Amino acid sequence: MDFYEVVRNRRSIRSFKSTPVPDEAAHRIAAAVNAAPSACNLQPVTFKFIRNADLKARLAACCKQEFPAEAPVILAAICAPEKSWKRGDGFNSADTDMAIAMEHAILAATAEGLGSCWVCAFDSEKAAGVLGVEAPCYVGALCPMGYPAAPPREFIRKEESQIFEVID
Ligand SMILES: Cc1cc2nc3c(=O)[nH]c(=O)nc-3n(C[C@H](O)[C@H](O)[C@H](O)COP(=O)(O)O)c2cc1C
Repeated sequence: MDFYEVVRNRRSIRSFKSTPVPDEAAHRIAAAVNAAPSACNLQPVTFKFIRNADLKARLAACCKQEFPAEAPVILAAICAPEKSWKRGDGFNSADTDMAIAMEHAILAATAEGLGSCWVCAFDSEKAAGVLGVEAPCYVGALCPMGYPAAPPREFIRKEESQIFEVID
């Protein structure tokens, strides 16, 4: 798949086959995560690629929706806000760095033929407890992942002119 095919094929998938995700795919996704840019190259985000059934079930139980429980993998992004770049006005780049790296993971997963869905609707404190994440670190996002068992929802987007302006 070329880059634009990957971008076009990436959709949120909320139904998964039980087929396991192999190590080779996990390592290619890890390489894509590691290639993500971060402010001052500080890389303040770590990822856990969770295949362990018990841990996965406990993490899925932190989610507001049911579908994460059926994914063969839950990818968790853990932000370390004390290790990220800060601007003088108080802006902390941890969430931005996390979002870029998570999207790299999601696009790499798409290239692997995997479906995934970024999940923010979860109990962050409970998820931190499950993963042993201690403040000030926090679980920034979860991403259930696996081979798709159902197509995505309808593709709906704004018109290009509503979101993108070329200024010469
Ligand atoms: C920051 C963020 C948080 C999201 N949280 C959830 C979520 O908690 N549950 C869910 O089902 N989808 C979640 N999504 C997926 C969006 O609903 C989805 O990306 C959007 O509807 C567009 O659909 P598409 O990804 O299939 O193109 C989230 C996406 C993003 C980027």
